Amino acid sequence: MGLIIIVGTQWGDEAKGKITDLLAQEADVVARYNGGDNAGHTIAHQGCTFKLHLVPSGILHPQCQLYIGNGVVVNPQILLDEMDELTAEGVDVSPRRLKLSDRAHLIMPYHRALDGAAERARGDSRIGTTQRGIGPVYADKAARAGLQAGDMLESDFALRVREAVATQNKVLEKVYDQSPLSPEEIAAQYTVYAERLRPHIADTSLLIHQALEAGQKVLAEGAQGMLLDLDHGTYPYVTSSSPIAGGAFTGLGIGPGDPPQVVGVAKAYTTRVGAGPFPTELTGALGDQLRGTGDQPWDEYGTTTGRPRRCGWLDLVILCYAARINGLTGLAITKLDVLSSFDRIRVCVAYELDGQRLEEFPSRTTELAHCRPIYEEIEGWERDIMAVRTWEDLPPEARAYVEFIEERVGVPAPLISVGPEREQTICRP
Ligand code: IMP
Repeated sequence: MGLIIIVGTQWGDEAKGKITDLLAQEADVVARYNGGDNAGHTIAHQGCTFKLHLVPSGILHPQCQLYIGNGVVVNPQILLDEMDELTAEGVDVSPRRLKLSDRAHLIMPYHRALDGAAERARGDSRIGTTQRGIGPVYADKAARAGLQAGDMLESDFALRVREAVATQNKVLEKVYDQSPLSPEEIAAQYTVYAERLRPHIADTSLLIHQALEAGQKVLAEGAQGMLLDLDHGTYPYVTSSSPIAGGAFTGLGIGPGDPPQVVGVAKAYTTRVGAGPFPTELTGALGDQLRGTGDQPWDEYGTTTGRPRRCGWLDLVILCYAARINGLTGLAITKLDVLSSFDRIRVCVAYELDGQRLEEFPSRTTELAHCRPIYEEIEGWERDIMAVRTWEDLPPEARAYVEFIEERVGVPAPLISVGPEREQTICRP
């Protein structure tokens, strides 16, 4: 099968980076299709940890081509810094291997300034964005006022940058009472970025099409999670792109072709960063137990912002919704090991809303905010499972937990992750 789409099934941070790295062992292309440097994908292998924001998670597999698709928004400085760090670690991110879509939109300094100013203006209704300029850059894209990576190939690129900064300065000054940014300085800075990125810019849609035509295996790597999807997430507490499987087609410029495999990555519990409703959130000691103290790389603190994540029990209403919206063909259940310290584990199987039992995820966020979880309780295994490598060696209670999820969601879980390293994965046939 040519195309495998990797999606987050919750509010992001499901360990998609690890699963992408694992599946990339047998892939020819890894292509990122949405989001920007608001994402943080962590890959741990043989004691080394790589934290990626923009470069696709296939870096450790030399046979993989790495494409940043048209649906991604790129802060050139972040991309270049990441490339420099990877190069220093001996990873090949040369133009031969790493390609940037000419249609990807560029994050400009005014996008970050506008993101911060808009959040401050929202006051108590703030979204809790990562302040990376994501909302404003996608807004410019939709308003047809954006700059694309392909513009860096044009002789009048510096002029376009100056004009764009001058236009956005009016918004910064008049709407948000902020100091203007220097069009000249930004044009000079972006001209330097353009020099370096030019050899990487390509029609990645065509390259992916050619790879699929040649029978190669392409991994479409999503960022964030489906509940942060602009259309199908918990609007307005969402990001501004399409993390769902459908986003892979627009974000890479390909058609569905043969039915793709869609791997939904689901944490064995639930987390979210930023504001918005979260029915199974645990605010007391149990939440702290799930979060960890922050001294382990896999503890629940944001890769991009370092913010503590909100933590709660697994929510199967969400996973069933994810299965429906994304057409999931398989689940990768991650961080099962984190539940090892609990004697009883709760799983949300439905919601209660106004005295009624609700099985389907509510379409309106205002309704979700009033939903109360209905739990079933499952016995814990209270045993370290980080060294387990086969399904048979998992404690029976852990197997029962996975089977409970599979049965309720109606999707098999061939991958179960019990630690951050690639090897700490149970692959079931
Ligand atoms: P933005 O994408 O920076 O505009 O942030 C919008 C919402 O999405 C906020 O609640 C962020 O915390 C959340 N968000 C954005 N990127 C990620 C991610 O990679 N993981 C988890 N949450 C994210």
